[in-house]
Amino acid sequence: MIMKRFETPILVTRPYLPPLEEFKRGCEEIWRNQWLTNNGPMVQRFAAELARYLNVPETNIALFNNGTLALELGYYAMGLTGGEVITTPFTFVATSHALKRIGAIPVFADIDPETLCLDPKKVEPLIKPGITKAIVPVHVYGHVCDIDGFARLSEKYGIPVIYDAAHAFGVNREDCVHSTPTPSICTSIAACGDMSMFSFHPTKLFHSCEGGCLVFKDDIDHHSPTLNSNSNSLQARLFDLRNFAIHSETECVDVGSNAKMNELQALMGLCCLRKIEDLLTWRQKIYDAYAEVINQAEVKGRGGEWRVKLLQQSANHAYVPVLFDSFATREKVYTELKEKCNVFSRRYFYPLLTDFAPYAYAKGTCPIAEDIASRVLTLPTYYGLGSADVRAIAQNILEILA
Ligand SMILES: Cc1ncc(COP(=O)(O)O)c(C=O)c1O
Repeated sequence: MIMKRFETPILVTRPYLPPLEEFKRGCEEIWRNQWLTNNGPMVQRFAAELARYLNVPETNIALFNNGTLALELGYYAMGLTGGEVITTPFTFVATSHALKRIGAIPVFADIDPETLCLDPKKVEPLIKPGITKAIVPVHVYGHVCDIDGFARLSEKYGIPVIYDAAHAFGVNREDCVHSTPTPSICTSIAACGDMSMFSFHPTKLFHSCEGGCLVFKDDIDHHSPTLNSNSNSLQARLFDLRNFAIHSETECVDVGSNAKMNELQALMGLCCLRKIEDLLTWRQKIYDAYAEVINQAEVKGRGGEWRVKLLQQSANHAYVPVLFDSFATREKVYTELKEKCNVFSRRYFYPLLTDFAPYAYAKGTCPIAEDIASRVLTLPTYYGLGSADVRAIAQNILEILA
């Protein structure tokens, strides 16, 4: 069989762009309002609609100009500065960068080989009473973490759980693979743990050009003692922090940042939210088309062992990760897809965080994560990518392996 070379490059992802007319109508409203930033009407509307979509109260959500600053300010507001925080190395650097930037120390625990999310059983031995200030699991590729396992640790040791849910937009609590749904604990993936962060970067299935949001429980116990008591809800504190911690015309109550979402971002977010069901359905079809080719192929090595497998799909089909039998196979497929087929897959997450200089102190401590990072590849998926092209990409992979 001959490999298909695409004339125009197929990138690993492409942002959904709403019809220009729809975006222009929103711009006309912004022009009329003459309000571009500082919690304007579009941002307020986006927050309200997101709260409805995520099934959380409007008082428990805050929007930011990107997910990284949302995490940074969320960690800070939860008082993690100066403590150890147990997290996963199998994630994007932002999860840990945001910890380092507020003066917390990331401690890495290994992942579950099925979900690729932080494993609570690996976390527990690393908890140091009085020193460990939080656990930060990541819903990797949209796979739901062992929420009940983390809830038990949180309860037992009295420490908060903050989810990096950057990949999990569109996933419901009921999609949790580990346990029966417990709506008394939370009714939405966004309401699990003490806080969750969603990224609205354009590489994500849902976006607002750039952007992010925090959803949180309003439990005053965990808040930073350095914050002024004028800000007496977590939402008010986060609103202050995202605006330099300027609380009123005459008060600056802490060292905040400039992390406000602007009106154009919120408009894009509102347009994308209207389309969310189609965006999710399209990705499901893409996953199915990959599965049709890859799962049915018997790609075996000389010893009869498998050479490629599609990882279990997450409820939002945010990514299409495949695992190869070895680092060498992954590298060959990645390179040949690029050079021979004009297809740009991504080695996500590789290198592992603990291979990067700021986290090299933990190199070698998480063997499962190291192994997965060396063999995983995420394949192109985005709204508009046709099923025939997807099947051709999958066939190309089988051809490279043949
Ligand atoms: C797991 C994870 N955490 C955090 C981030 C940071 O989000 P943002 O790009 O919106 O700053 C990303 C994505 O970029 C991510 O994939």
